[in-house]
Amino acid sequence: QLVYRTHLGSLVRTAALVSKHIEHFSRFSPSPLSMKQFLDFGSTSACERTSFVFLRQELPVRLSNIMKEISLLPDRLLATPSVQLVETWYIQSLTEILDFLDKNPDDHRVLETFVEVLEGVRNRHNEVVPTMAQGVIEYKDAFGRQDAVTDHNIQYFMDRFYTSRISIRMLINQHSLVFNGNSNPAHPYTIGCIDSKCDVTEVVRDAYESAKLLCEQYYLGAPELELTQMNGEAQPQNTLSPLHGVYSLTHSLTHSFLNAMRATIETHEASRTLPPIRVLVALAEEDLSIKMSDRGGGVPFRKMERVFSYMYSTAPRPSMEHTHRAPLAGFGYGLPISRLYARYFQGDLQLYSMEGFGTDAVIHLKALSTDSVERLPVFNKTALRHYKLSLEADDWCVPSSEPLDLAVQRSAK
Ligand SMILES: Nc1ncnc2c1ncn2[C@@H]1O[C@H](COP(=O)(O)OP(=O)(O)OP(=O)(O)O)[C@@H](O)[C@H]1O
Ligand SMILES: [Mg+2]
Repeated sequence: QLVYRTHLGSLVRTAALVSKHIEHFSRFSPSPLSMKQFLDFGSTSACERTSFVFLRQELPVRLSNIMKEISLLPDRLLATPSVQLVETWYIQSLTEILDFLDKNPDDHRVLETFVEVLEGVRNRHNEVVPTMAQGVIEYKDAFGRQDAVTDHNIQYFMDRFYTSRISIRMLINQHSLVFNGNSNPAHPYTIGCIDSKCDVTEVVRDAYESAKLLCEQYYLGAPELELTQMNGEAQPQNTLSPLHGVYSLTHSLTHSFLNAMRATIETHEASRTLPPIRVLVALAEEDLSIKMSDRGGGVPFRKMERVFSYMYSTAPRPSMEHTHRAPLAGFGYGLPISRLYARYFQGDLQLYSMEGFGTDAVIHLKALSTDSVERLPVFNKTALRHYKLSLEADDWCVPSSEPLDLAVQRSAK
């Protein structure tokens, strides 16, 4: 019992200590890096010591900023076993990184353990997205569908939370790939996980091929790809964004291809030919835009907002985990997360759909690496206000489902 009590005592002390650190570090704003900075840093002037000193401060800042927001989630969501689990991962990782605050940056053993710890942190957080999705499902199962304000809060939180996660993984990947001592001979221009000589059409083709592979496993066929590239007159010289090549672009494109393929095949089951998926790449001075058009029957306009919602996820429930799932469909986070990847470097992903015909998914990215700057959430009063929103009357009339009887006197509001 004594052992138990001391253990409990130390747990309480750790928790108190951690929350003190969260308070401290969440007062700093995260420092967004540009693609150019990521690249410059990884190439010529790669200095592990500088990166270490930056990260041991920046990672706790990014972690603490988002941990403040986790703590503001609706109590009943916060209390679900899945969200609790995610929270313990964050506390554990923060504690491990804080350990380096008083370590000597000139000691190469310190730098080595730092890389190991970062890799451990990254692996610990591998399952964050499905675990959070599970939390949302546990919450919906227990309390049913919530009001519009709760939906808004959860959507607002998830976008910020996943962006923060993308950014933290980016920092960790860059540091560990650049400094783990192995260069990648197959990709001499790859700096960490950024491809500095990235050819967009090649990325499109690669994404198409990997989506096609998956698609063929289920459907024994896949629509063809028709790829066109349009380059603007004044193409930027040398400054062309290296793109989040291996990183964000591939992710968003593969997911979009999967959606387009599934829709195409499912709406053309009866016919023997599949309409191709058309991709148009347009590169100009400021923007790099990629439009993917399918003829997969589209999504009704009323449902457009829902396709980006985390609350409408169709995550597999635990009991169903090993049963057959809809082919090519995960738990419905494909679009919202692809959009976050595009937004992460100041781009966006938009969907235009015409029910009965097909869908255009457009990804906009910055053409210049100097314009591609991380877009990061910061915890401040404005953010706080979002979580404190209360349920108010709608300021647009709600149409009644009953036919209006004009003979009846209007009631007061
Ligand atoms: N190109 C498209 N054509 C028709 N419907 C689409 C298209 N893209 C998305 N949708 C609709 O939007 C929904 C949400 O898409 P999303 O990619 O977010 O999730 P998912 O494909 O169901 O699962 P996941 O992407 O996580 O594997 C899809 O289930 C589908 O109904
Ligand atoms: Mg999808």
